[in-house]
Amino acid sequence: MIDLSGKVALVTGAGAGIGREIARWLARAGCDVAVNDLDGDRAARGVAAVTAEGRRGLAVPADVRAPGAVESMVAAAIAGLGRLDVAVNNVGLMGDAPQSDFADLEAEDIRSVIDRNLVATILCCVAEAKALKEQAEGGVILNVSSGESTRPALRLAAYGAAKAGINHLTQTMATELGPDGIRVLSIAPGTTLTETVRPVFDDEHVARVVESLPLRRMTEPEELGRLAVFLASDLARCITGQFILADAGAWLSRTRPPISPGSAGA
Ligand SMILES: NC(=O)c1ccc[n+]([C@@H]2O[C@H](COP(=O)([O-])OP(=O)(O)OC[C@H]3O[C@@H](n4cnc5c(N)ncnc54)[C@H](O)[C@@H]3O)[C@@H](O)[C@H]2O)c1
Repeated sequence: MIDLSGKVALVTGAGAGIGREIARWLARAGCDVAVNDLDGDRAARGVAAVTAEGRRGLAVPADVRAPGAVESMVAAAIAGLGRLDVAVNNVGLMGDAPQSDFADLEAEDIRSVIDRNLVATILCCVAEAKALKEQAEGGVILNVSSGESTRPALRLAAYGAAKAGINHLTQTMATELGPDGIRVLSIAPGTTLTETVRPVFDDEHVARVVESLPLRRMTEPEELGRLAVFLASDLARCITGQFILADAGAWLSRTRPPISPGSAGA
């Protein structure tokens, strides 16, 4: 039922993890995909995932924390693939997010977390909104947030605040860009065992998290790809400004204590 043929997507941080699965599933649904990553080799792997689905893939490596680089990335995607319909701002810090008790937060860590999660997302959104408005055919912007944006983010205070900022940004953008036919949504994953996140947890921790989840399973990266396809499609054409939790029910337990020192939430 979902056919995104003829559409062009741009996915940031799509060389690995959730971003690569989102790029893969958008391609599976018919999109050509511009694959951003900081790391050129990873970007190439993301492109390979797209072309394996029979669609055009284009590497647009850039550091999305840098305004000039972000503008060039969006311009390169449009120049290379002809247009822009779906933008997914996925870059963030999760498995490698610095963790500490609140009173021990270091200024440098706060800045790096806010930069990579919130500042980078805003910069991308501005460049993408400008391009979509110029194209004047509507579009969809999906911002990757986190379950931690919806409850206290113990030992991850700056991360939770940055992701909550993304949810708020999404509301403002949806309101302002709605008249241009541009929908804006946040995807909020629960713990998802990507290559960066898996090493943070020991097996015992994973088992305890699974046991705490109503669905008794964690979110899989590919399930976030499927969700992105749905949200980008006309099946979701009346949905904008929302954050969509994809967390196997983790929100239902609301405030979850950190399970072991040094263990991450999601
Ligand atoms: N994995 C989880 O449990 C989880 C849970 C909730 C939310 N999230 C969010 O999902 C998103 C993806 O998470 P993941 O686990 O797939 O991450 P990941 O670390 O596996 O992949 C992130 C990719 O982004 C790239 N990247 C990092 N900084 C960049 C930059 N400045 N510019 C361009 N590319 C950059 C990395 O090279 C990497 O390929 C993040 O926003 C994260 O906060 C993840």
